Amino acid sequence: MIAKKSKVSIIDVAQKAGVSPATVSRVLNKTARVSPELTKKVLSAVNELNYVPDPFAHGLKTKRTKSIGLIISDITNPFFPELARGVEDYVSSVGYSLILCNTDAKVENEKRYVELLLNKRIDGLMFTSLRVGEDVIKSLLSDGVPCVLVGRKPENIEGLIYVVTDNYKGGCIAGEYLFKLGHKRFVHVSGPLDNSAGRERLAGFIDALKKHKVKGKNIKVIEGDFTMEGGYRSAREILRLNPLPTAIFFANDAMAIGALQRFWEEKISIPDVFSIVGFDNIKVSSLVSPPLTTISQEIYKIGQLSARELIKIIEGEKGEPIVLEPKLIERRSCRCIK
Ligand code: RIB
Repeated sequence: MIAKKSKVSIIDVAQKAGVSPATVSRVLNKTARVSPELTKKVLSAVNELNYVPDPFAHGLKTKRTKSIGLIISDITNPFFPELARGVEDYVSSVGYSLILCNTDAKVENEKRYVELLLNKRIDGLMFTSLRVGEDVIKSLLSDGVPCVLVGRKPENIEGLIYVVTDNYKGGCIAGEYLFKLGHKRFVHVSGPLDNSAGRERLAGFIDALKKHKVKGKNIKVIEGDFTMEGGYRSAREILRLNPLPTAIFFANDAMAIGALQRFWEEKISIPDVFSIVGFDNIKVSSLVSPPLTTISQEIYKIGQLSARELIKIIEGEKGEPIVLEPKLIERRSCRCIK
């Protein structure tokens, strides 16, 4: 890893100067002509913030490095290794290599990695969240840095190519399925609601139940965080509800598995007490007890397609947004109560 000389990042300097990170890089590395006015703004932001650039950095994209960066938020969520595997298999098949960065869902880590990857002159970037800030991604795009968003839909960034599962439809499938099993009281443990996947899964679930006139106090939403620990904590919250729900839809498998652990510790038998549906179909979801019914995303394929689109953009072609279909995988964590 490149030694970090300054806590201030190139993105902070760019924001202070009102220019893009690439412009800061061009001024500092003298890789292209920048107007005297912008140069002055950049240098005064550098001085004010005491920014010390990485001495090994050579600026942005002076020539191809045949490497791309994938920024993920949680390496412990098995969704991401499978996704990364899809990306890596694709990029290595076409002669590129992958740099994988884990941010622990922290904005400052994400900013640091964007900077590090730019300094390493990667040819393109894959984001799995917009946590770094829409303005940063917009400025990367306007500087011609190829970017793809994976697993999320950008709402306000024109031209950002994405590869995603239809999360709204996945939420609908979960709601419809649990309703048809005869359930009347539901809990949804959502993903973070500042995240489009979290919001769309929630909206689909609620809309499917509304169609069957289930609403109000019969649907309780607990905001989760997509982690196993968060799922474990949510189970504690669910057990305090009165009356208890009979069906729970978790916005991802990691949270469902965390909750299964808690229910097991409390000697609560699943699916006798609660019917549980997850989302993702990570490999381990078929190995837990009981095997988890879930809404499947084609995780490896999402990785491959995202990599394919990114490389198309890097090589001067036009990328295209891709939306994949979710699918119900029935296992043994639900029961019919009709
Ligand atoms: O951020 C993690 C989650 O987002 C995954 O579990 C998957 O559901 C993805 O969309």
